Amino acid sequence: MIQLYHVSKRYPNGCDALNDVTLRIREGEFVFLTGASGAGKSTLLRLLLVMERATEGQILIGGRNIHVLRDSSVPFLRRNIGVVFQDFRLIKNRTVFENVAIALEIMGLGRKEIERRVNQLLEGLRLIQRAHSPVTDLSGGEQQRVAIARALVNEPAILLADEPTGNLDPELGHDIMQLLIDINRRGTTVAVATHDAYMIEHYGLRTLVLHKGKLLEDRPRVSVRPGQDVRPPPSPLVYGSPLAMQPPVAAAESSLASAADPDAVEAP
Ligand SMILES: Nc1ncnc2c1ncn2[C@@H]1O[C@H](COP(=O)(O)OP(=O)(O)OP(=O)(O)O)[C@@H](O)[C@H]1O
Ligand SMILES: [Mg+2]
Repeated sequence: MIQLYHVSKRYPNGCDALNDVTLRIREGEFVFLTGASGAGKSTLLRLLLVMERATEGQILIGGRNIHVLRDSSVPFLRRNIGVVFQDFRLIKNRTVFENVAIALEIMGLGRKEIERRVNQLLEGLRLIQRAHSPVTDLSGGEQQRVAIARALVNEPAILLADEPTGNLDPELGHDIMQLLIDINRRGTTVAVATHDAYMIEHYGLRTLVLHKGKLLEDRPRVSVRPGQDVRPPPSPLVYGSPLAMQPPVAAAESSLASAADPDAVEAP
């Protein structure tokens, strides 16, 4: 679904934000992208959205080389990618409904269809009671859910979320994570940038670790049976190897076991 081949990004000020990154995220996968502040997480997400262009290397999304995508084609790519920004980027003087509906209005859908889709989503995200409130009246967690609703309303194949649990209390953070996991179960490929070590440890999902712009580690998803810790040691460095495959994923009975990964191995 997403492939990076030897991707580097140097900003005009000379900062090397990404350095020779090669990785693959398969269709239906859920991955965390982690690393210290400045490691390059947001830069990687911005490259996938073509908000920035790579200085070197190739990026394929759904088999298309976005490195050579014309600016005029970028909006078509973005229709397939939902994005949740760390600072939400909601339109302040609009309601919850209007914030979510906007992507569908841009696509030219009729009012009835927009209402149907937006209300269904707001229902599912427990936001329907707030549909006609200005977003500024909402709590941080509610605004975060509006941002997620907006990212999902046009049913994208890929969801990118930058620190979606940042600045939320742990309980709300888990609610948001559960929501993203549910979305992934329904088939959306999800990539979440986070420096929240607790979340990463708790969910045991595949984790790509960036360090100063390099892909330092590609930790496979952990499968945990109740009362049993089967976390494998970190996988070998994939940096520099062309499209290194993940080690096989062991069986799992946790709630994440079938997180839309068609290649997951079932427990004997
Ligand atoms: N527009 C820009 N111009 C110049 N340098 C930039 C720009 N955006 C990011 N950088 C630099 O690129 C590096 C990677 O930044 P990036 O925002 O991708 O990191 P991050 O891993 O998302 O960090 P954080 O956890 O703080 O969000 C940093 O050194 C940052 O200062
Ligand atoms: Mg960032």
